[in-house]
Amino acid sequence: MSYLTSARQAAEAYRQNPSALLLGIETSCDETAASVLRGGREVLSMAVHTQIPLHRKYGGVVPELASRSHVERMGEVCAAALREAGVRLTDLSAIAVTCGPGLVGALLVGVSYAKGLAFAQELPLVGVNHLAGHIAANYLTYPDLQPPFTCLVASGGHSHIVAVESYDRFTLLGRTRDDAAGEAFDKVARALGLPYPGGPALEELALTGDAAKYPLHAAFNEGPTLDMSFSGLKTAVVNLLHNAGQKGDLPDKASVAAAFQHAVCKTLTNKAVQGALRQGSKTLALAGGVSANRYLRALLEEACAAAGLRFCCPDFRYCTDNAAMIACAGHYALLCGEYSGFDLNAAPNLPLCGAQQGF
Ligand SMILES: Nc1ncnc2c1ncn2[C@@H]1O[C@H](COP(=O)(O)OP(=O)(O)OP(=O)(O)O)[C@@H](O)[C@H]1O
Ligand SMILES: [Mg+2]
Repeated sequence: MSYLTSARQAAEAYRQNPSALLLGIETSCDETAASVLRGGREVLSMAVHTQIPLHRKYGGVVPELASRSHVERMGEVCAAALREAGVRLTDLSAIAVTCGPGLVGALLVGVSYAKGLAFAQELPLVGVNHLAGHIAANYLTYPDLQPPFTCLVASGGHSHIVAVESYDRFTLLGRTRDDAAGEAFDKVARALGLPYPGGPALEELALTGDAAKYPLHAAFNEGPTLDMSFSGLKTAVVNLLHNAGQKGDLPDKASVAAAFQHAVCKTLTNKAVQGALRQGSKTLALAGGVSANRYLRALLEEACAAAGLRFCCPDFRYCTDNAAMIACAGHYALLCGEYSGFDLNAAPNLPLCGAQQGF
C-alpha cells in the first residue's frame, strides 16, 4: 500500500478518534519545540529549547546558527515531549509540523524530521502555517472559542489583521506596510541599548517611563485604512536619541520606551478593533509574540469592552513560538481533510490567505 493511501486511511482514523494523540513540531525561527496534544486542545506536553542565549551576542537571529542548533536539539526535544506526555511514538495518531513562513534552513530541519517520523510510524503528516499556529494558540486558552472571529497577529515577522472565517479559511483585512510590530520593538530596543529579544526588555523599561514626555505619531496610522506602518516610529526614536546625543543631552530612555510602546500598541488596538467591527465579528483575538505585551493586552481589553467585543488573548506560555499551537492548528487542518505527502517542503514565504493577497 502506498504511503498516501495508508496516510489517507490514518488521517480518517484520526478524525474518527476524539482523543487521538498528535505530535506537533516547530522550528521556524529560534525555538526548537515539540508538543503532544490529545483531541486537539488538551496539551499533554510542551518541550522547548530556546536559542536566545545563542543569538543574543549578535543582537538578532543568525540563520545558519539557528539551523545547526535545530539539528542538534530536534531529537532530544521530541523525546522530551513524548516523555513529559507519558506516551510512546507508537501511541501517536498524527504529526504536524510548521512548513512556513520562517527561515528556510530552520524550517527544513523540522519538516525533514517530521517526514522521517511519519514514514517510520506510517502516520499522517500535516504541514502547518506558522501564523495559523499563532492564531490557534487562542483555542488552547479558550476551550469554547471557535471561528468566526477577527484576529490581530502581532509577531516578530508579521502584523496582520485577519478574519478567521473557519478553522482553515483566513482573509487578510489589514497589514503593516513595512516593519512588523515585534521587529520594530526589537530595533528600537537595540537603539536604546537593550538586549535581544528587545520586546520584553522594552516593555519592562517602559514601566517606569512617562509616555506623554515624547509624543510620537505616524500620520499614516491615523487614516481610514486597516494597514499600518511602524518604521517611521522606529526612525523617529532613532532621530530623537541621535539629536539628544548631539546636544549632549541624556534622553530619558524609560519615557522614550513608554512613548514608543504606546504609539505601536495604540495603532494595533485602533486598527484591530475597527477591523473586527467592520467585519461584524463578536470576538477580537490577539496572537503572536507581541501578544505577551501587557500594555497591548490592557489597551485591547479596554477598547473591546467599549466596543462590545469579546477579547481573547493566549495564555502567556502560548504567545511566543511553541509547538502546542502548531499541533492545535495541525489538528484542525486534519479535521478539515488536509494532510501532506513526502513532497512537503519548507516554504519561507508561505501565505496564510492565498498568494494573491501577498501574505
Ligand atoms: N512583552 C513583549 N512586548 C513586545 N514585544 C514582545 C514581547 N514579548 C515578545 N515580543 C516580541 O515578539 C517577537 C517574537 O515573537 P514570535 O516568536 O512569534 O516571532 P517570530 O516567530 O520570530 O515571527 P513570526 O511569528 O512572524 O514568524 C519578537 O519580536 C519579540 O520582541
Ligand atoms: Mg512566531
